[in-house]
Amino acid sequence: MVITISKFYITTPIYYANDKLHLGHANSNVIADVLARWHRLIGDDVFFVTGSDEHGEKIEKAAVAAGMQNIDFVDYEVKKFKELWQRLNISNDRFIRTTEHAHEEAVKAFVELLNKNQDIYKAKYSGWYCVYEETFWTELELKNGKCPECGRDVKILEEDAYFFRLSKYQDKLLDFYNKNSFILPKYRQTEMLNRISGGLKDISITRPSVKWAIQFPFDSNQYIYVWVDALVNYLSALGWPNSDVDFNKFWPPDVHVIGKDINWFHSVVWPALLMSCGLQLPSNILATGFWTVNNEKMSKSKGNVIDPISLIDKYSADALRYFLIKEKSIGEDGSFSNDAFIARINGELVADLGNLVYRVLTLAEKAEEGAKFEGRNELGKKLELEKLEKAMADFDINLGLNIIWQFIREANKYINDNKAWALQGAELSNALYNLLESCRLISILIYPFMPETGEKIAAQLGTKIEFKYCSFSPDGKFSGKIKKGDYLFKKIKI
Ligand code: MSP
Repeated sequence: MVITISKFYITTPIYYANDKLHLGHANSNVIADVLARWHRLIGDDVFFVTGSDEHGEKIEKAAVAAGMQNIDFVDYEVKKFKELWQRLNISNDRFIRTTEHAHEEAVKAFVELLNKNQDIYKAKYSGWYCVYEETFWTELELKNGKCPECGRDVKILEEDAYFFRLSKYQDKLLDFYNKNSFILPKYRQTEMLNRISGGLKDISITRPSVKWAIQFPFDSNQYIYVWVDALVNYLSALGWPNSDVDFNKFWPPDVHVIGKDINWFHSVVWPALLMSCGLQLPSNILATGFWTVNNEKMSKSKGNVIDPISLIDKYSADALRYFLIKEKSIGEDGSFSNDAFIARINGELVADLGNLVYRVLTLAEKAEEGAKFEGRNELGKKLELEKLEKAMADFDINLGLNIIWQFIREANKYINDNKAWALQGAELSNALYNLLESCRLISILIYPFMPETGEKIAAQLGTKIEFKYCSFSPDGKFSGKIKKGDYLFKKIKI
């Protein structure tokens, strides 16, 4: 039998190193981590990248405001990013920083390729520029004369710049969009398709004024636009163009997990740049929705920014991961509130999962010495494993978690329907076989979503988290070594 191992290359946005990361930033990393862990679980060879976007005017300004040298400032901020990802159990294989020398060289090599293909030319650039978003806007796009994205003041910039011939790629992009299901959710693909059909303008890819950036290789007065710099991280993280090993193995990306606000850069600009360089395009873009707080936009000025660390300290990383995935479907917006979070902890993590594992292990321990836990598969049929695998392959991890949860509820129902606590002898043995095997399957399937919880359940059952064992044992026996532990989750008093 030939076993083929698939590769799976997954990325998150790289975050601007000028600000504290909040719940909205944690969102993309949790989603990507669940997918990365799932793919590792099913045996794929995974490469998972996150990182920091460290060049540009707003980072320079933040460093000045902090009274620090640019590089010391970003070093300090990045340390905090890494701490957050560690606390959230983000299992990235690589953390890429755009100030790494190898990355800077990769960006220059990338721009040289664009130039070789005659896709770069010099011209005057004039437009409305938002420093905070690092984005030029047209007059039409402005909202009440302010940046349509963040509402801040914009300023007219006129300057010499080098342009990338984005317009040249309109037909190729249309063709690509018509042949591929590229962006999820689907309506985001339609949105982009409409914008491409409406006509593409060339984009400036250098700035003369921003000095905290990578120098443009063909003109020492120009610096590379941060978005080009940032997008190339997906290549440089694999060692491109100097080392082929990871690049040959993992390119192209299987999915870029991003926020819906940066879809244009990832779904139009990035593919066109890659086409110009003759590099394969990513297979999918997963454009995630936004988190608001009590239905309001999270913002410093409103003082409603949610710090993920304080939630982890209070409720655990797994509870936060669970909430982010369970509360809404990935592409849609959702509102965070303490009440909604606590309702999910008490009503689902405690009452469904925690309760199931505690009840089953209590029954198993109480069963007479040497109880065999043997029987026939009744409950295992309730697990919709194929549907779950399909949902995960489609990046629909909200549906995936719902399928697992349905099974957890079936297992609790099985205890009640069979009055498992009152059974004896062969009937008790059969019920416990079904319940212990179900808990074992749950420990495996829940692991990508809540790694600490998956491990705790497996430790209490004395079983392994391996996907090849993700079905009821064919010999009709549960063969773990039970050691009941504490409740998995504590009820939060309101
Ligand atoms: N540096 C660029 C990304 C470059 S990727 C090659 C950037 N950084 S960011 O720090 O501003 O934002 C990073 C991501 O966080 C974006 O995908 C953005 O959509 C996401 N989020 C920021 N606030 C968010 C919410 N409130 N909710 C969900 N995601 C949000 O853009």
